Amino acid sequence: MSHVVVVGADRGIAAALVREYLARGETVSAVCRDDGAVWTDSAARVVPHTDVTDNAAVRRMADALDGPVDLLVHVAGVGAFERFGDFDYDAMLAHYDVNALGPLRVVAALADRLAAGARVGIVTSRMGSIADNGSGGMYSYRMSKAAANMLGVTLYRDLREREVYVMLLHPGTVATAMTAGAPGWDSFTQPEQSAAGLARQLDRLGPDTPVEFRHQDGTLLPW
Ligand SMILES: NC(=O)c1ccc[n+]([C@@H]2O[C@H](COP(=O)([O-])OP(=O)(O)OC[C@H]3O[C@@H](n4cnc5c(N)ncnc54)[C@H](OP(=O)(O)O)[C@@H]3O)[C@@H](O)[C@H]2O)c1
Repeated sequence: MSHVVVVGADRGIAAALVREYLARGETVSAVCRDDGAVWTDSAARVVPHTDVTDNAAVRRMADALDGPVDLLVHVAGVGAFERFGDFDYDAMLAHYDVNALGPLRVVAALADRLAAGARVGIVTSRMGSIADNGSGGMYSYRMSKAAANMLGVTLYRDLREREVYVMLLHPGTVATAMTAGAPGWDSFTQPEQSAAGLARQLDRLGPDTPVEFRHQDGTLLPW
């Protein structure tokens, strides 16, 4: 049985990922920003009150986890949908803090818990792909997710010497609170389907996996 840590587990794709790994029989730590009450009647071990922009809270989360971590999946993130000219720079910095620095804080805090053979998945977004940007807009979301992709590649290089393996992931276009109100929301991928796909990609991650940015459906995405 593996110890899986899912960060951002209050709701959405991360909550579906917690359910996916519980259904597989893994030991799952659900790291939540709120009190984690949603997991009260489940087998998940809850680590509450972990805002990934809060250095002290992230350190407390690392201390609260039990034992070594075999798989860490950072999912927490915020959407931001500015058009050109519609810029609130303080808000944009806050998005960067969550989407780019958040996964760095979490991985750095848990580095000593990641034993040889451990895996790290970071959910970024296709919106962070420079090569795939065919529509513009969404400035701080795109920029912060591009930074998260760079973070992931850098971690991939640095953690390999510890035999810890890193993959960047896109969950698809998923029907969650983040995308609510978007045209066609009813036909978006369901969180459960996205979570199952993300877990399948992470199943493949190991010493022979090159640094990759994968769609949950298995498609290799450009940087
Ligand atoms: N939905 C999509 O189509 C889509 C597409 C591409 C990428 N993604 C990425 O997938 C990830 C999950 O998205 P989602 O659709 O599941 O969104 P969601 O339903 O809005 O869930 C976001 C999760 O992140 C948590 N979170 C936000 N800010 C946080 C912070 N500062 N510290 C800790 N946790 C925080 C939220 O906690 P609270 O409940 O406390 O707010 C919530 O649990 C995000 O990184 C998103 O960018 C989503």
